[in-house]
Amino acid sequence: MGFVSIEKLNKQNEYIAEIRALIKGLSKKAFVFTLGCQQNEADSEKLMGMLKSMGYTITDKENEADVLIVNTCAIREHAERRALSIIGRFKHYKNSNPDIIIGVCGCMTAQEHRMEQMKNSYHYVDFTFGTGALHRLPEFIYNAINKSKRYFDKDIEIPEIAEGININRQSKYKAWVSIMYGCNNFCTYCIVPYVRGRERSRKMEDVLNEVRDLVKKGYKDITLLGQNVNSYGKDLEKRPTIADLINEIHKIDGDFWIHLMTSHPKDASEEMLEAVSKSPRTKGHFHLPLQSGSDEVLCRMNRRYTTEKYLKIIESLREKTPEVVLTTDIIVGFPGETDEDFEKTIDLIKKVKYDSIFSFIYSRRKGTPADKMKEQISEEIKHERYDRLCQVQNEIAYEKNQMMVGKIVKVLVDGKSKNNENVYTTRTDGNKIVHIESDKDYTGQFINVKITRADTFALYGEKI
Ligand code: 5AD
Ligand code: SF4
Repeated sequence: MGFVSIEKLNKQNEYIAEIRALIKGLSKKAFVFTLGCQQNEADSEKLMGMLKSMGYTITDKENEADVLIVNTCAIREHAERRALSIIGRFKHYKNSNPDIIIGVCGCMTAQEHRMEQMKNSYHYVDFTFGTGALHRLPEFIYNAINKSKRYFDKDIEIPEIAEGININRQSKYKAWVSIMYGCNNFCTYCIVPYVRGRERSRKMEDVLNEVRDLVKKGYKDITLLGQNVNSYGKDLEKRPTIADLINEIHKIDGDFWIHLMTSHPKDASEEMLEAVSKSPRTKGHFHLPLQSGSDEVLCRMNRRYTTEKYLKIIESLREKTPEVVLTTDIIVGFPGETDEDFEKTIDLIKKVKYDSIFSFIYSRRKGTPADKMKEQISEEIKHERYDRLCQVQNEIAYEKNQMMVGKIVKVLVDGKSKNNENVYTTRTDGNKIVHIESDKDYTGQFINVKITRADTFALYGEKI
């Protein structure tokens, strides 16, 4: 494991300089379409940062772009289908202008069968690459401008980290900071370890410098990203822990929140829970994916914890910080999930009373062990269970949101609501949405609001 060498990064900087010279004065534009999770959003901000360095203006209008990049997701079949349909849509741009450059990257194209599909069936795609070759975008664009052969990168598991890439942040007050990449856990349903490689952590000093810089620039809401932030640092020489990192961030002056996305229960240490609940920056929200409330299913998912251990973590966290907003991920319809298993999930979410859950219908992923399991669940049963789960959770969320009425909370203003002129959408440190009316625009600022009303999906309040 290691870091992309200075020589390799310099080589990319040379490509950047060459492209700048080639397109100078031509007003070239680039469009990046992002699918998937926050890690992909963060990757796309780097892609855009590099494109800007090359001299492209970033546009949100695909029909005026000279470079089109699709940053894909592979977590579920639906995400791949969307990617394929978007890539399909780009064909007519190339037909009307053969100089247009089309690249596809991210988790979907980190799978060999998808890369081959792009190569053989999408002839207008100039290049594809996986998640590990992000820093080589300048090279791929340079070769495409010079009409070199189409290129399909096979370096799927690059075990390296590239530091120092320009980041074109999409928000002035919310930022993603990747603290580690990849995953070692191989949950049996999940494609991530195959498309993002093994865990590698950024050096603590690099992360801290990035956070300090963001805070100095006025960023208020920073999410530390990793597939399992609880194992941060295990691959680093000094073996810092996530608790060390949180404690160091806590020392940075400024008014800002920190979110962790995402934690694995098997690695949730007391030390980490202590650090999270001690700091006002982190104690508002904790996301702890459960996946299933049945120990048998958890075992077949290779999650390596029991519901008993999971509940102990929740108990410990709530003891330390009773107000914490808890969220989770649940998969319904994992192979072999019986009605009894599913009822155990329902019982568990009733017991924990999450503020909200992200629920997913199990999606077969080629190359994962669960895809080969015999007892696949019918679509009908999966959908029935999904609907039931949402219904139960909606009741819990409604109940929990009602408990917020009358409270005064600090929120970060996200911006004007789409449907209503004087209404602004804001968020609490627990990521709960609060709509407020205001004549003044406080976007990007913290304000205090009194919660006046609540429903299942949002709170309503007034500025005080
Ligand atoms: N099918 C459905 N949901 C999945 N997730 C991961 N893989 C799959 C899959 N094959 C969910 C998990 C994970 C979240 C990011 O996506 O709940 O925590
Ligand atoms: Fe996928 Fe499990 Fe890794 Fe999360 S911890 S990315 S669910 S393999």
